[in-house]
Amino acid sequence: MLPKWFEEARFGMFIHWGLYAALGGFWKGQEMTYIGEWIQARFRIPNEEYAKLAETFDPVKFNADEWIRTAAEAGVKYIVYTSKHHDGFAMYHSKVSSYNIYDATPFKRDPLAELAEACRKYGVRLGIYYSQNLDWHEPDGGDPGPGYPSNGGMMSWGNDWDFPDYDKKNFRRYFENKVKPQIRELLTNYGEVSVLWCDCPLDMKPEFSQELRAFVKELQPNCIINQRIGNNCQDYGGLGDNQLPIDRRKDTRESPVTLNHTWGYKKNDHAWKTPQHIVRTLASLAARNANLLLNVGPMPDGDWPEGTKNVFAGITPWIREHADAIFGSGSNPFAVDMPFGCCTVSGKNLNLFVDQDVPEIVLNGILSKVVSATVPFTQDGEVLRLDTTGLSDPLLACVTVTFDEVPQVRQDLIPQNGVLHIRPRNGEAIHGEDAAESGNTTVSADGEKEGSKHSSFGRDGSLQFWDNPADRIVWPVILPAGRYRILLETRNRATWDAHAEWFGDRKAAWQLGDLAGETELVRESGEGGSGVSCLAECELASEFRGDFMLRTAEVLSENAVHMDLIGVRFVKVAQ
Ligand code: GLC
Repeated sequence: MLPKWFEEARFGMFIHWGLYAALGGFWKGQEMTYIGEWIQARFRIPNEEYAKLAETFDPVKFNADEWIRTAAEAGVKYIVYTSKHHDGFAMYHSKVSSYNIYDATPFKRDPLAELAEACRKYGVRLGIYYSQNLDWHEPDGGDPGPGYPSNGGMMSWGNDWDFPDYDKKNFRRYFENKVKPQIRELLTNYGEVSVLWCDCPLDMKPEFSQELRAFVKELQPNCIINQRIGNNCQDYGGLGDNQLPIDRRKDTRESPVTLNHTWGYKKNDHAWKTPQHIVRTLASLAARNANLLLNVGPMPDGDWPEGTKNVFAGITPWIREHADAIFGSGSNPFAVDMPFGCCTVSGKNLNLFVDQDVPEIVLNGILSKVVSATVPFTQDGEVLRLDTTGLSDPLLACVTVTFDEVPQVRQDLIPQNGVLHIRPRNGEAIHGEDAAESGNTTVSADGEKEGSKHSSFGRDGSLQFWDNPADRIVWPVILPAGRYRILLETRNRATWDAHAEWFGDRKAAWQLGDLAGETELVRESGEGGSGVSCLAECELASEFRGDFMLRTAEVLSENAVHMDLIGVRFVKVAQ
């Protein structure tokens, strides 16, 4: 059972801060690709040289009170602070290793102690990130070895530049001498720790995840652990980096999200997401019973980048105004997604977040009685009409509908506001007998292995590896008579990679009653790795109740294997 505070939290703040911030993405004049905290591995910087960064690391502008006050004002309910990242440098005062911010830098302060105090002051929960497997500073730090798929085809996961002799590495020694003693410090010296956030388990053996879990629970029984502890030893599930779920589960999950393209500070990364983008992400995660863990990558002087400050200033008023619709809210009560945005439930209120200009919203399958709404409405049987003319908010508009009970709605796959928007998990994925020669094995940024010759559901709710023409997916839909465009939504699985591209590269086959067809996917709209393609236009003379079937008829290039199916939309174009 997850603690109530986590189920209600909806908003956490990740803090990636370490020696890497001092380099800001550059090493000896060369700019890195990839995320900033990986700079030591990216340039294979010897420990001896990397450690020198500590000699001048003096974040005089560090102000724990200000960091946490800013977060608390924006509605942040918990933080997750990098106490030790893959570089092995402790960003707190550790007695276990002098490779830490107190002993090795001129700063001579313990930021974690100051953050813990500020968290108590502002009622924000303290969570701690600890890289339990990778540690490039230690000869015995985690290393899946040369036989393991590399990190993004670019880097070794472990330190093979200072410590190339893989056979000599003894993970047990590192685990006993550094991980456990440091975890003991972190869970005894800083008061209540609500989350231990582990990362990159890769090939770490089950016994270590199990031991670590038991150790944490012995020290702080109420501390919850994310799934990157590895080997199914977690308390809660998390999505991949920048991966947003499209389905919802009974148990609350968490999406870690960057504000630009990096976690650790990079001075040249100005690709800041907008306040609008962030509040929309927050609302859409709440609608899917997930918490947003939004990253801040402070600068080496302890200040936040301007772009980060701007986003917090931009989102704070909106979040404060809509706190009731976000915090402690329940997810979308309908089986289908809302074509105009998303929705949550708080008590007897249905909160509709509207991210586009729509003059009217028509909801079907409403079984409870409406008492009031923040816009004019009429209720006729199961149909609720809301007049949304003039509704506008530059960040995200919200309509609240109050019922005489907790709103009850039909669970059928029926259109809302003229659009039936279904997701892979609304349907049934059926495997054919032939295992086609498609599917490959990849390792995601957080070390999760993926790959299959048959379709499977990704942890984000997408349909992955739907390349096998023998497989299909079937949804039981209800569509009133009319003319519809059928749109397919696909996205590149590498959502963590800001440069991930969209590929069609397949022919899809579909069937709806007597109607059927085959279409090569072309992108009509969408950006980055996401795309919407038109599958067909079809005419229904009378109401249709039955199966909609979709499968891949032909894979046109190997690229297709990276593209996941994330949704289908039936958009009514005429009566
Ligand atoms: C990945 C990266 C790590 C980062 C983390 C954030 O696992 O390896 O550097 O801290 O994602 O979620």
